Amino acid sequence: PTIHVINRAGEPSDFEAETGVSVMENLRDNDYEVEAICGGSCSCATCHVYVDPAWLEKLPAQEADERELVSDEPTYQPNSRLSCQIEMTEDLDGLTLTIAPEA
Ligand code: FES
Repeated sequence: PTIHVINRAGEPSDFEAETGVSVMENLRDNDYEVEAICGGSCSCATCHVYVDPAWLEKLPAQEADERELVSDEPTYQPNSRLSCQIEMTEDLDGLTLTIAPEA
C-alpha cells in the first residue's frame, strides 16, 4: 500500500508502506521527520500527523489515551492523529497525511 506524505517543508512524496506495523514505523523507517521518542507507546506525541479529512473515518477509532495526548498539543487540529496508533493495512492504500510541525 502507498502512503502519500507532505513533509514539514510542504513537499509531497509517496512511498510503499509495510503492513502489520504502524504508520509511525513506516514514516520513521523511510526517514520522514517523525522522532517517535517513546517508540510507539502513545506517550510522546512526536509522531503527530494531520490526516487528510477524506481518510479520517477509514482509520481505526481513536482511543481515549491518544485523544487526550494529541489534543494537548499546541499544534492540534481536528484531523490530528498519533501515527503510532494507526496500524498500516492494505485498506489504507492511498492514505494521505501531513507531518505536523514540531511542537
Ligand atoms: Fe510516541 Fe507515537 S511515537 S506517541
